[in-house]
Amino acid sequence: MKTNDQLEPTVFVIFGGAGDLTWRKLMPALFDLSQDRSVPANYSIIAVDRVDLSDEKLRRRLHDGVKKFSRQGKVKAAEWSEFARHISYQQGDFKKLQIYNILGEHCAKLEKEWGTKVHRIFYMATPPSMFGEIPKYLGKAGLASDRKWARIVVEKPIGYDLESARVLNAILAANFEECQIFRIDHYLGKETVQNILAFRFANPLFEPLWNRRYVDYVTIAAVEAVGVEHRGGYYDQAGAMRDMVQNHLMQLLCLVAMEPMISFNADEIRNKKVDVLHAIRPIPHETVQQCVVRGQYGPGWVEGKKVPGYRAENGVSPDSQTETFVALKLFVDNWRWQDVPFYLRTGKRLSRQATEIAIQFRGVPHQSFPPESGRDWHPSRLVLSIQPEEGIVMEFQAKYPGPKMLLRPVDMQFNYRGGFAVSSPDAYETLLWDIMKNDATLFMRADQVDAAWRLLMPVLDVWKAAPPGDFPNYAAGTWGPEDTQRLLVRGHSWPLPTELVGYPGKRRRNK
Ligand code: BG6
Repeated sequence: MKTNDQLEPTVFVIFGGAGDLTWRKLMPALFDLSQDRSVPANYSIIAVDRVDLSDEKLRRRLHDGVKKFSRQGKVKAAEWSEFARHISYQQGDFKKLQIYNILGEHCAKLEKEWGTKVHRIFYMATPPSMFGEIPKYLGKAGLASDRKWARIVVEKPIGYDLESARVLNAILAANFEECQIFRIDHYLGKETVQNILAFRFANPLFEPLWNRRYVDYVTIAAVEAVGVEHRGGYYDQAGAMRDMVQNHLMQLLCLVAMEPMISFNADEIRNKKVDVLHAIRPIPHETVQQCVVRGQYGPGWVEGKKVPGYRAENGVSPDSQTETFVALKLFVDNWRWQDVPFYLRTGKRLSRQATEIAIQFRGVPHQSFPPESGRDWHPSRLVLSIQPEEGIVMEFQAKYPGPKMLLRPVDMQFNYRGGFAVSSPDAYETLLWDIMKNDATLFMRADQVDAAWRLLMPVLDVWKAAPPGDFPNYAAGTWGPEDTQRLLVRGHSWPLPTELVGYPGKRRRNK
C-alpha cells in the first residue's frame, strides 16, 4: 500500500452525503483506508445533501455508521477525531448551480491552502434520478473539464433500460471524458472476483482446459437469503434482472469467459470483457420463454424464521409483478465456448446466501474402470466461491481405501481465511482506492453497460408485454421456482452451494 505522501491531495465531494450509501459503505471504507494510511496527507471529504445538518451532526451520524460497518472493528476516539476533521457538510439543492459554485470555491480555497492542484472526485451517492442532473451542473460550473484532476463516480443502476442508459451515458460523455467516468459495480471490488483473473491467468494449469473441449457447462449463482429489506420502493421498480443480472452476473460471466488479457491495463481488460458480451448469443423475443425463468417469493421460512412474501414487504405493491428471481441459459458464441451452456441464477429469499461459479468439466473420454467401481462417480468440478465463504474447491475422483478399486469424489480446497492471514477489504475500499489512483480496471465502461442492456432488452420487453400470472411461484427459503429445471440440458444440474472447510458453524446471512 502506498503511504499518504505518495498520493496527491484529493477532495471527495459526495452528493447524497447524508444518505444511506455514504453512511453504510463510503464512510466506513474511507475510514478504513485512512487507518491503512491509504489516503493522501491532504484530503477533504465534503458531504453534500439537501437536509439541514451541521458539520457536527453529520459527523455524529457518520461515526455511528463507521462503528457499525468499519473493518477495523473498534473505532478509537482519537482515530475517529483525526479522520472526522477532514469531513464537512454542505447543504444544497443538486439542481441549482449555486451549490456547484460553492463547491468550486471550496476546492479553490483548498488548493490555495495546500499550495497545489487537487484531485476532485465527484461521487453520486444519490437516487438514480439525479445521475443525469449532477454531471450537467458540474459541467456548467466548470468543474468537469479538467481531464487529469476531475473524476465522476456513478453508482448502479446505470439506466433503467437500454434507452435510458444511453441517455445517461450521453449526458456523462457531454461533460466528462470516458477516462474520467467511474461506473461502479461493487462486485468487481470483491477480492474473490478479482481473483478470477489471477486464478485463470497467473496459473498455467487450468487455462488449457478452460474451453468447450473440456468444459461441459458453467453455472454462476448469486443467491441471497435476505429479502428486499428497506429497499422495497426501489426494488419493486427494478426487479432481479435489472438489480443483479444486468450488472453483477454479467460481470462475473465476462471474467469467467474472457480471453487472456495482453497486459494488466484497464482498457485492455475491459476490451476483453466487452468481447464476451458481444459474443453472447442474442435472445430473440420468441426464445425468451425457453432461455429464461422468472420468479417471485411468497411467504416461507428462512433460517428458522418465518418471513413474509415479497408482496407484503414495505414499499412493494400488493399485486406486484416484479421478479425477485431470475435464471437464464446463455451461450457464448465463439471458438472457446461454442455450445457450452452458461446457467445464471439469482434471487432473494432463497435458502441461503452464496455467490459461486462452478465449472463442470466433461467426463473422461473412455471409462476404463469397471462399472461397480464408481457408483458415486461424477466428472470433476471446479468451484470458485465468491462469498460468503471465500475460496476455491476442486472436486475430483480418488480411490477409496481398501482392496477393491472403488472411486469416490473428494475435494481440494483453498480458502482465503486460512490461506492468507489478513482480512479482505470491503469492495468499496478497493474501489475508492482505485478511483484515487485513477485506475479504471474495476469499473464499467459505457460500451459494457450498453452491450449488457442490449442483450437483456428482449427479455424485459417480453416480460412487460406478458405479466407472469403465477406469482408468487416460490416459497421463501427454497431454491426458487421448480420451473428452473427446464432450462437445463439433460444431465446438467444447478449445484447447491459448496461448503468450505474453515468456515464452520452458522453461515452468515448477507448484510
Ligand atoms: C446490490 C443489489 O447491487 O447487490 C442488492 O442492489 C443486492 O439487491 C446486493 O443485495 C448484493 O451485494 P452483496 O455484495 O451483498 O452480495
